[in-house]
Amino acid sequence: MEFKDISILFLALVVVRLWWRYWSITGGGRKNLPPGPPGWPLVGNLIQVILQRRHFIFVVRDLRAKYGPIFTMQMGQRTLIIITSPELIHEALVQRGPEFASRPADSPIRLVFSVGKCAINSAEYGPLWRTLRRNFVTELINPTRIKQCSWIRNWAFEYHMKRLHKEASENGFVEVMSNCRLTICSVLICLCFGAKISEDRIKIIENVLKDVMLTTAAKLPDFLPVLTPLFRRQVREAKELRKKQMECLTPLLRKRRAFLESGRREDDEMASPPGAAYIDSLFELEAPGRGRLGEEELVTLCSEAINAGTDTSATTVEWALLHLVTNQEIQEKLYKEIVGFVGKDGVITENDVEKMRYLGAVVKETFRRHPPSHFLLSHAAVRETELGGYTIPADANVEFYTAWVTEDPNVWKDPGEFRPERFLDGGDGVDVDVTGTRSVKMVPFGAGRRICPAMTLGTLHVNLLLARMVQAFMWLPAPNSPPDPTETFAFTVVMKNPLKAVILPR
Ligand code: HEM
Repeated sequence: MEFKDISILFLALVVVRLWWRYWSITGGGRKNLPPGPPGWPLVGNLIQVILQRRHFIFVVRDLRAKYGPIFTMQMGQRTLIIITSPELIHEALVQRGPEFASRPADSPIRLVFSVGKCAINSAEYGPLWRTLRRNFVTELINPTRIKQCSWIRNWAFEYHMKRLHKEASENGFVEVMSNCRLTICSVLICLCFGAKISEDRIKIIENVLKDVMLTTAAKLPDFLPVLTPLFRRQVREAKELRKKQMECLTPLLRKRRAFLESGRREDDEMASPPGAAYIDSLFELEAPGRGRLGEEELVTLCSEAINAGTDTSATTVEWALLHLVTNQEIQEKLYKEIVGFVGKDGVITENDVEKMRYLGAVVKETFRRHPPSHFLLSHAAVRETELGGYTIPADANVEFYTAWVTEDPNVWKDPGEFRPERFLDGGDGVDVDVTGTRSVKMVPFGAGRRICPAMTLGTLHVNLLLARMVQAFMWLPAPNSPPDPTETFAFTVVMKNPLKAVILPR
């Protein structure tokens, strides 16, 4: 080797060494980012996370202990700023809400399903998001519409009870999650399309939408977009899945359009009157920058509502029942409250559940102890700003680790215990504001501009389904499958071994 080659090699090593230091200290080279674990050249902390073979949420739980309320992770090309303290979450989402109300860039795969960010959850903070969200709130979840659609819940929940009966008599036990998912999914399909469809069709839609959620969960190309050409197979598969999603939902929206144009009030499948389904409002909507929405956008917006509302609510019912099965005293107290309001056989209504204080406490404690999502959806700052004394670049993912707040012993007494009484008089959660507006103690729906717009509807589904299940049956552990609270991540944080329970008619 000549002297020239040795010099070039030496120089190259020095440059790589300096560059490595630069990356590992700053997480990508920008000044004054929050501290974080040192990373590797090019990939930052990505490989370290992958090597741990645990979901990201569990890795962050450990890093929080070391790096505190705000830290940086460099995941490939993406800079993630993780925020964990109640004070910083409140400052960013509530006090300075508009500054942190945007969403980061999407991966090519996610863009396939959102038709270029034409969904409430993925739209950047701006006129399109505002129009879609306002329409969603006024058309789908205003109190009059919720009341008008109570027949949908009655229809689906009655069917739910029959299915539980049948499953229990055939198998000796019931599986909670799969039944709750199916029921809540059928309610949301009917709210979106006004259609009452067969269980087999609901199952097909449910499975396709579950695949969509898993496909759009963060994967390697999200963090290394430069390598997207290497992930051609994944992009091709995503496009095939999108085709399947279109094929199973387009017939419903075409049928709805034809039904509206026919001027009829009702038919065999279209059970909601004109104007009562979410899609009816979307047909009429003028979306800024998009005009009238096409079938691709309509499918995306309805899928978003079905996806966002199914697993979140079903997961909550499953976790609540885990505690009722393992703690019969809580279950008995809840049963007595329900019977006190409506009797053993009375039909529980939306108005009844609003008045049931113990039911409210059980559900709040479930949201606290088992928030369906440990992080909010990824946020982004609308422009470069500062938080906690550090720079927050405009193109970074700002990730709010809200689950930590409910595990924090400085915020909650014995946070690991499941104790609904903490939400009753004298308890440490009695005045808690779940919207996080006053302060952040538990925010299962997020807080500020991007707070879940269907918080009331989601809570209603959980309250009503749980109350009806407890009124109809006594819930006991299945002898061969003892309840196991181990968590895993599947879009929401669910029980790794789904809850199986023996049910005895009351
Ligand atoms: C127990 C039930 C539910 C829980 C715990 C829940 C939780 C959440 C959370 C944590 C977010 C993210 C907030 C953020 O990024 O700051 C969110 C957003 C959203 N949720 Fe829910 N949700 C529930 C039910 C529902 C239901 C039933 C629907 C629709 C029918 C729905 C529709 C949405 C939409 C459209 C967004 C995006 C909002 C935006 O970006 O502006 N959610 N939800």
